[in-house]
Amino acid sequence: MKKTMKTLMRTGTLLASAVSLAMLSGCESTTAKDEGFKGTLNAVSQTAVAANNAASGHAPLAVMPSMPPIPADNKQSDAKVELGKLLFFDPRLGGDASISCASCHDPEQGWAWAEDFSRGYPGTVHWRNSQSIMNSGHYPGSFWANSVTSLEAQAPSAAKGGVAGNGENDIMTARLALIPEYRQRFKEVFGDDYPRIKNAWRAIAAFERTINQTDTPIDSYLSGDKGALSAEQVRGKALFEGKAGCIQCHNGALASDMEMYNIGVPPAKRWEEDGLAQITFRFELYAKGSNEKLYRSAKADPGAYFRGKNKWDLGKFRTPSLRYTMYTAPYMHNGAFYTLEEVVDFYNAGGFDEEGRTTGWPKTKSKLIKPLGLTDDEKGDLIAFIESFSGDEILMAKPTLPEYAPMFTLDELKEAKK
Ligand code: HEC
Ligand code: HEC
Repeated sequence: MKKTMKTLMRTGTLLASAVSLAMLSGCESTTAKDEGFKGTLNAVSQTAVAANNAASGHAPLAVMPSMPPIPADNKQSDAKVELGKLLFFDPRLGGDASISCASCHDPEQGWAWAEDFSRGYPGTVHWRNSQSIMNSGHYPGSFWANSVTSLEAQAPSAAKGGVAGNGENDIMTARLALIPEYRQRFKEVFGDDYPRIKNAWRAIAAFERTINQTDTPIDSYLSGDKGALSAEQVRGKALFEGKAGCIQCHNGALASDMEMYNIGVPPAKRWEEDGLAQITFRFELYAKGSNEKLYRSAKADPGAYFRGKNKWDLGKFRTPSLRYTMYTAPYMHNGAFYTLEEVVDFYNAGGFDEEGRTTGWPKTKSKLIKPLGLTDDEKGDLIAFIESFSGDEILMAKPTLPEYAPMFTLDELKEAKK
C-alpha cells in the first residue's frame, strides 16, 4: 500500500489524491475481509451434501439444477454479470497486466489449461492442474484441496496468489479507476464512486455462476429420456454404480460428494525433472507453512494437509466433478493422466499408474480404492458413460476490453500544482 501510494504521489498531486480516494475504499477489502464472504450459502450446500450422504451411504446421481445457489449478499443482475465477464477476461486484474482469469481458465481449453500443471504467472509454472470453472458456482468450496469457501473469496486469492495473478490490491484498484467505462459500470452496479476491488471479485463470482452446463446426455436420461444414453453407456452406468464403485465418491448432481480422499495419484514427475516446477513446489510448501522436515523431504503434494496440518489429511484432494471432463484433460490435481483411458486403467489397477507408481502418502490412501477386475469391454463402457456427463462444448469469445483514459487533462494537473 505505502509503496504504491508513494509512487503515485510523485506522478501528480491531483491525480494522486483522486486515486488514493479510490484506493482507500479499495483498501478496506484486504484479504482478511475478502475471506469473510463465506456467507450462508456454503453452510447450506454443505448440509445438503451431508444429508444425502447420511441417508443412503451415498447420494444417487442427479439432474443438474439450472442455476447454482445465489448468496444473499451477492445477487445476480445482467449488468453485474456483464461487468464480471469483462473483468474475468481483463489482464489488468493481475500483477504485470499480462494474465487474466481467462488466461488459465481458457474457454477453448475447457475453461481450464490443457497441460499437467497450469501455466503460471510469467516466469513461473503453477504446481497444480488448472481446474475448469464450469459449474463452479455449485461447489460448496473451491480448489483441489477445497481451501476456500466461496467464489467471492476465491477470486482475490487467484488474482493475488504468487504463481497465479500476483496482483496487488492498490495497483489493481488504481487501474480500474483509470478506465472510465469501469468507473461507470461499478457506479451502476454497486454504487461505487470509484471501483472497489472487493466488488470486482463479486462481479466475477456472479459471472462464474452463469457458466454452467445442464443439457448433457446424463441429465436427459435421468429426466426420463431413456434414449439419451447408448447401450454402451447404460452398461457403463451399471458398472459405475456397481462393480467399479465410482458412485461411492462421484455422486449427486455434480458426480462428486465434495469430500477429500487420497486415491493414490502418483506424484508429479516434473518435480524431479523440471527446475521451474521444483521452485514452485518449494515455494508453495514454504508459503503454506510446512514444518522444516516436510519442507525438506516432501516429494508429493500434501493436499488437504495444509488446512489443519493433520497427518491423516496428507495427499487428500477433493473429489472432482465428472461434468464437462470431455474437455478438461489432463486429469487429477497434478494432471497425471491425459486420457480417460489412463484414468480408468489407474482405478482398475487399484490406484496405480502403468509403471506401478502410486501416492507419495501411502498411509492415507483410501480403502475404497482397490483392484476392480474390469475387462477391456467393461472399461470401454465405463469411459463411454463418463462422456455422458458432458454436453456440447461451451465457448465464449474474448470481449473487447475498455481502454484506459487519463482522469485529468494535463491542463487540470498543471492547474492543481499551482
Ligand atoms: C496462473 C493461472 C491461473 C490464474 C491467473 C487464475 N487461475 Fe483459477 N485456478 C488455477 C489453478 C491452477 C487452480 C487450482 C489451484 C489449486 O487447487 O490449488 C485454479 C482454481 C480455480 C477455481 C476453483 C475451481 C474448483 O473446481 O474448485 C476457480 C473458481 C478459479 N480458479 C477462478 C479463477 C478466477 C476468478 C481467476 C481470476 C481472478 C483465476 N482463477 C485466475 C489457475 C489460475
Ligand atoms: C474414494 C473416492 C473415489 C472413488 C471410489 C472414485 N473416485 Fe474418481 N476421484 C476421486 C478423487 C479424490 C479424485 C481427485 C484425486 C487427485 O487429484 O489426487 C478423483 C478424480 C477422478 C477423475 C479426474 C477428474 C478431473 O477433473 O481431473 C476422474 C475422471 C474420475 N475420478 C473417475 C472415476 C471413476 C471412473 C471411478 C470408478 C472407477 C472413480 N473415479 C472412483 C475420488 C474417487
